[in-house]
Amino acid sequence: MQGTHDASSVNLTGEGAMIRNVKFQQDAFDMPDLDETAPQDAPSDEQEDIDDGDDTVNGMPTDLLGREYETFPAPQPLHQHGPARVIAMCNQKGGVGKTTSSINIAGALSQYGRRVLIVDFDPQGAASVGLGINANNIDNTIYTALFNPRMDVHEVIQHTEFENLDIIPANIDLSAAEVQLVTEVGREQILASVLRPIINEYDVIIVDCQPSLGLLTVNALTAADGVIIPVAAEFFALRGVALLMQSIEKVQSRINPGLEIYGVLVTMYTRTLHCEEVLQRIYEAFQDKVFHTVISRSIKLPDSTVAAAPITIFAPNHKTSKEYREVARELVARGVIA
Ligand SMILES: Nc1ncnc2c1ncn2[C@@H]1O[C@H](COP(=O)(O)OP(=O)(O)OP(=O)(O)O)[C@@H](O)[C@H]1O
Ligand SMILES: [Mg+2]
Repeated sequence: MQGTHDASSVNLTGEGAMIRNVKFQQDAFDMPDLDETAPQDAPSDEQEDIDDGDDTVNGMPTDLLGREYETFPAPQPLHQHGPARVIAMCNQKGGVGKTTSSINIAGALSQYGRRVLIVDFDPQGAASVGLGINANNIDNTIYTALFNPRMDVHEVIQHTEFENLDIIPANIDLSAAEVQLVTEVGREQILASVLRPIINEYDVIIVDCQPSLGLLTVNALTAADGVIIPVAAEFFALRGVALLMQSIEKVQSRINPGLEIYGVLVTMYTRTLHCEEVLQRIYEAFQDKVFHTVISRSIKLPDSTVAAAPITIFAPNHKTSKEYREVARELVARGVIA
């Protein structure tokens, strides 16, 4: 069941700018008086790793923000595939969990039988490495596809060792793209045209963006149906997000009017007063765009990167796997993904 959720228009405070799908309060970005000395009482990873036999995330009738919430149902199997929803995983702040979330939401969805393609759109190639693809030894990457309009995009798709999970890899070649794109015809729409021939072959395409708001990211926003913004639960979490919202708004008004904000995903959360306060501020800024599920800070995630597998496959019973599965379920339950 493919569908869009409601697109209400909300006035941005102060500047009279309009942005769809998100209630957005500028002053929430300042985060003036957070308690940086909050006690660190997070549970250890051993405690997190208990398999309680079901997918209930925190066993409570509310989420961490106190919103009424029940674990989303497991998605129904699909009998036909496509067209894909294209999701840009985007935040110009580095190290907030874009790649980790791309890999693990993709992993969870692929285990639910969805056909998933990740587009590694970062010259660091972290998504490629995280799925066991050594892109340094590969000639055909996303870079090749961007600059060869006659190339068949199937030639750059790599099948990972995981069922239903493919990737278009990236390597350092892509770092030249930002400059080269400037002189290309239709420079903002090139990724969209690369993906167009394969839209019907996948249920979801996740573009793992690099931490910048340059032309590559604009290409991702132009190709996307919606954006997921991972935000780390830390003191400066919302710094720069206003700039990201401006970029999204510009792409919406000039190139891609259908672009939605699918959600804000809070990552690296620990049960501390500090994180609770940060979470509250993120909620003040984005309201119901904040996913019910919050991703805990866990050493198992870097471990799964080393193992070159989604955590949902590497350690399926780990708390973090349940959290990422729950985000995948929420995306399906909300009709973002079939
Ligand atoms: N929930 C988490 N708990 C602990 N570590 C995490 C978590 N999420 C991500 N990490 C680790 O934090 C680091 C940064 O994560 P990641 O690469 O996903 O961020 P990113 O936003 O893609 O970074 P970049 O902007 O550089 O592309 C990685 O080492 C990753 O393993
Ligand atoms: Mg990354």
